[in-house]
Amino acid sequence: MTGSPLNFRPAAVYKWFNASSTHRYPKEKNAVDKPNVRSKSESKAKSSSRPFLTDVQTLRERARKNIASGGVTFTYRGDVHKTVDILQAVLATEIVCVLRYTMHAVAASGISSEGVRAEFAQHAKEEQGHMMSVAERINQLGGTPNFNPTGLASRAASEYGVAGDLVDMIKENLIAERIAVDHYRELIRYFGDSDPGTRIMLEGILVVEEEHANDMHDLLVAHEGRPMLPS
Ligand SMILES: [Fe+2]
Ligand SMILES: [Fe+2]
Repeated sequence: MTGSPLNFRPAAVYKWFNASSTHRYPKEKNAVDKPNVRSKSESKAKSSSRPFLTDVQTLRERARKNIASGGVTFTYRGDVHKTVDILQAVLATEIVCVLRYTMHAVAASGISSEGVRAEFAQHAKEEQGHMMSVAERINQLGGTPNFNPTGLASRAASEYGVAGDLVDMIKENLIAERIAVDHYRELIRYFGDSDPGTRIMLEGILVVEEEHANDMHDLLVAHEGRPMLPS
């Protein structure tokens, strides 16, 4: 594995991606979007130099080579070391979310806190599911999930979010969810076609994070008595 998850910087990753990988995707995209643009001879030349589907014999031969790489096969287009580094940061984000919601579920007090506590507890459970999915994906890619509490807060995109009262807790959770939503949307675009497995996992998590943000927004409206977004 290259680099340390402690040094994960999204901007640097995007710079690396733009500099090294953009030559593949646009060509593939054009090939799919405009199948009738090329002449027959062009299509024949293209298909002979780069077949869309690999023949079965080649697939079988490739599969028997480098079996220690597990699911990272010949057609994996990403940089597996970069992917693991990115997922270590996502893992840290999810662990922090588990801790924050769990702390809030226990510490929330006051009138009408019972329903909010239940919501926090439910979210903590779902964040734990995300945490496990990301850890499993890191393992599939040949990495070791980093659960080390040392440096956890600096590896995560979201914050632990200590809050004094119920409304502040809801706000901290809403802010954390909004950070996660933005972060995961960018990562989904980043992975694109280079690592569909990681992208689809993040897409599933993103949908739940958006629900979480909406839940926190609804709770905030219920407790503040006014909509938080302009109508
Ligand atoms: Fe999550
Ligand atoms: Fe969430």
